[in-house]
Amino acid sequence: MEVIPTHPRCAEHVDALRDQVNSALKQLVPETTPPELYDPVRYVLEGGGKRLRPVLLLLAAEAFGATTSAALPAAQAVEVFHNFTLVHDDIMDRAQERRGRPTVHVQWDTSTAILSGDYLLALSYDLLAQVPTTQLARLIRTYHQMVRRLCEGQTLDTVFENREGVSVEAYLDMIDGKTGALLRACLELGGLIGGAGERHLEALAAAGTHLGRAFQIQDDLLDLVADDDRWGKVIGGDLMEGKKTYLLLRALEQAEGPMYDWFARIVRDNGLPADLVPEARDRMASLGIMQEARAAVEEHTLAAHGQLSALPGSQALDTLRWLIAKMRARVH
Ligand code: IPE
Ligand code: IPE
Ligand code: MG
Ligand code: MG
Ligand code: MG
Repeated sequence: MEVIPTHPRCAEHVDALRDQVNSALKQLVPETTPPELYDPVRYVLEGGGKRLRPVLLLLAAEAFGATTSAALPAAQAVEVFHNFTLVHDDIMDRAQERRGRPTVHVQWDTSTAILSGDYLLALSYDLLAQVPTTQLARLIRTYHQMVRRLCEGQTLDTVFENREGVSVEAYLDMIDGKTGALLRACLELGGLIGGAGERHLEALAAAGTHLGRAFQIQDDLLDLVADDDRWGKVIGGDLMEGKKTYLLLRALEQAEGPMYDWFARIVRDNGLPADLVPEARDRMASLGIMQEARAAVEEHTLAAHGQLSALPGSQALDTLRWLIAKMRARVH
């Protein structure tokens, strides 16, 4: 049985860390010229976002005794890097909305999105280099391994759009890269900055991978069932782009006869017209796919918690467990 800390201090703890991240990010880019570069950079960095990754990193660091100020440059690095991935991901996914506003390539153009993304990627390495540690080489190697895995995952995500017969196993490997690598690195980097030993670093890494699976399967689910006002992205966007999500792959595995043909057509046609998204949702619901996705999110959340039970007890660990429990119930 999972034990979720209920201490009210957990919520306050997360809010306080998120506030520190937000104020650091606000001061991060003072440059203004040329505005064609720095306006979109600020648009992205100050446009909201849950700031989950930097908070995870700060909590992991604190759980091993590091101060927030020592870990803050790395926390900013992972959030800036995450924002880079979103800007380029939106080009690749032809996404129109992010965080309730037009995506960068829609608001400006594709060149602007490529360049402001490049700038954010480079900035994230500069921030990482500012961590006061004797372990900088190891931090950079861990970071770069994450970048490699994320690029591999994003490549597979794109390749799968035009591939038939993608298995759930192949999907899980793909999301371990595109989403799990960064969440895993957040926990590992936090542990490294706090001076965690190898056994604890392994537990943090394994927790991060499970968290990545829970987070991406939940993202796939919300892409279809989220409340339009809070989601901030186009509902049904994955189906419209022909993305091999957990939901579509499970529907293809579960459906038979004309129901199978209906879903197989989405793959053959490389996507679904927007007006058929509600029908896809109804058909998936009738196959029990949403329940299955929720069960998978639960399973990986529990597995993440299981890994964290190997770590020494502290308020920071309690807050980390609380946050991970909260993430599975997120609605945006
Ligand atoms: C979106 O991440 C990308 C995925 C890995 C699914 P978030 O849902 O954390 O995005 P923001 O930063 O809160 O907008
Ligand atoms: C998330 O993939 C992974 C990255 C952005 C690197 P998605 O394409 O599902 O993310 P959203 O839904 O656009 O945020
Ligand atoms: Mg994508
Ligand atoms: Mg996307
Ligand atoms: Mg998504």
